[in-house]
Amino acid sequence: MKGIILAGGTASRLKPASFVVSKQLMPVYDKPLVYYPLSTLMSIGIRDILIISTTNDLPSYKELFKNSHIWGIEISYAEQKTPGGLAEALLIGDSFIDNKPVVLILGDNLFHGVGLGKQLMESFKEPGALITAYHVDNPIAFGVVEFNQKGVVTSLEEKPLHPKSHWAVPGIYFYDETAIERTRKITRSSRGELEITDLNKSYMHDKQLKVIALKNHVKWFDTGTPDSLLNAALYVQQNQQEDGLLIGSPEVVAWEAGWISDQTLSELALAVNKSRYGFHLKEILSGTK
Ligand code: DAU
Repeated sequence: MKGIILAGGTASRLKPASFVVSKQLMPVYDKPLVYYPLSTLMSIGIRDILIISTTNDLPSYKELFKNSHIWGIEISYAEQKTPGGLAEALLIGDSFIDNKPVVLILGDNLFHGVGLGKQLMESFKEPGALITAYHVDNPIAFGVVEFNQKGVVTSLEEKPLHPKSHWAVPGIYFYDETAIERTRKITRSSRGELEITDLNKSYMHDKQLKVIALKNHVKWFDTGTPDSLLNAALYVQQNQQEDGLLIGSPEVVAWEAGWISDQTLSELALAVNKSRYGFHLKEILSGTK
């Protein structure tokens, strides 16, 4: 299975902080934001990952992940010249996807939940697509979904003025190999974008869209605004300080999956040994956490 992280866009709601720094490279507490969606993909078991970003920002991602093969994964890169919509990621990633199922995750979405990766992987069944639902107070800011007890989607709307439910659709989407062909049939919305909700609706109309509700055991942040970015950072800080376990650490996910040895994790910890992050890696390795 392939994975795509969409890490482009203009981050207009974060200006001036985002004038010269890509949003997905900004720190969320102790690590770059993009580490979190990357770790989520890895926890699903995905090792072949494409990062899509802007022409300006791609070199920074290449620099950040230049040694990522040590984590037992392979990262490729592709450009999105202008923000043409979330579904455009599938067209840009066409040759990378290579007719395989794919998980698309937004580079500014942070998920945390023990066993979440496994749960998602087990819930995704081909043919079809899988989305998630998360209960929120302010659904108008998101894609909004209604579903029945069997997890079959009955309605889907993008940022509706009068939402039919309080279930937002977080930015992680599982697709079978028909996703690209379906995306090619979508027309651009009034804002000139290929909307992910339109792609999901194509599956819904064929009765092939399933949804899994992320309940109490999962926390989700869309970090598009200064407040949500800060809230995510506070959440990570509090959790890590309480139990000493790193959230969103590719090194830890790779080690737990058995993709890297104790020796490699120890070397990776040494490379950042002056930071608290390095200290946590050493603790995890020594079994004190
Ligand atoms: O976070 C979940 C929500 O993400 C969903 O509930 C909505 O259905 C979905 O449309 C999306 O809404 P947003 O308003 O958060 O989308 P935004 O335009 O902010 O883009 C999300 C991320 O994707 C952001 O980090 C920028 C990046 N992006 C966006 C576009 C439109 C790109 O890399 N390229 C793009 O063309």
